Amino acid sequence: MICLVKISPSVLTADFLELKDDIKKLEDAGVDMLHLDVMDGIFVPNISFGIPVINSIKKHTKLLCDVHLMIDRPHRYINDFAKVSDYLGFHYEAGSNCEQTLKEIREYGCKSCLTIKPCTQPEEIFSLLKYCDMVLVMSVEPGFGGQKFMPSALDKLSKLKAEITRQGLSVLLEVDGGINAETAPMAVKAGADVLVAGNYIFSADDMNERVKQIKAL
Ligand code: DX5
Ligand code: ZN
Repeated sequence: MICLVKISPSVLTADFLELKDDIKKLEDAGVDMLHLDVMDGIFVPNISFGIPVINSIKKHTKLLCDVHLMIDRPHRYINDFAKVSDYLGFHYEAGSNCEQTLKEIREYGCKSCLTIKPCTQPEEIFSLLKYCDMVLVMSVEPGFGGQKFMPSALDKLSKLKAEITRQGLSVLLEVDGGINAETAPMAVKAGADVLVAGNYIFSADDMNERVKQIKAL
């Protein structure tokens, strides 16, 4: 069977001074996107990086930029982040009008992505699926890399997959948090099309091996 799962490595736990070389290694390993976690210290209890860093990364790669906004009231920054994103995602729980914000992302020419935290049930976003190019299911509490995968994400992926099919939509399902060789096959079986993996890839001596390992599952 050909494995069509896409890999989107999260650079959150990378050594940023090594990132140019690491991105090259990831490209050679055949990853599909780069997952860029933007945190504001308000929506999540951590601060990461913003547009200048993403711009620097973009100078060194043709990989698609999969931007995961973990910021309060994200509609305020869609215009700015759309310029540096291919997929632009924000949280359902972050205090923006989701329908309007998803539409705006598409109007700027980006793929729209709606993200749900572990506390949100998939049924809450069924009516928004038609405005989404991708849905991101968090399998950890957002804010930090290197956490343990929450199995409750699997049921959410299955429910979302069934609903996407029922509505006849073409929406990618992405899962983020605690993905490794053990959890990746479970997520794919539950319906994930895109796997975000941070710590598992960036903590390895051989990133190429880890990417190939996940792709082969
Ligand atoms: C957490 C971030 C994740 C994180 C994933 O809030 O959204 O993208 O970097 O890291 P791992 O794969 O280490 O759980
Ligand atoms: Zn993320």
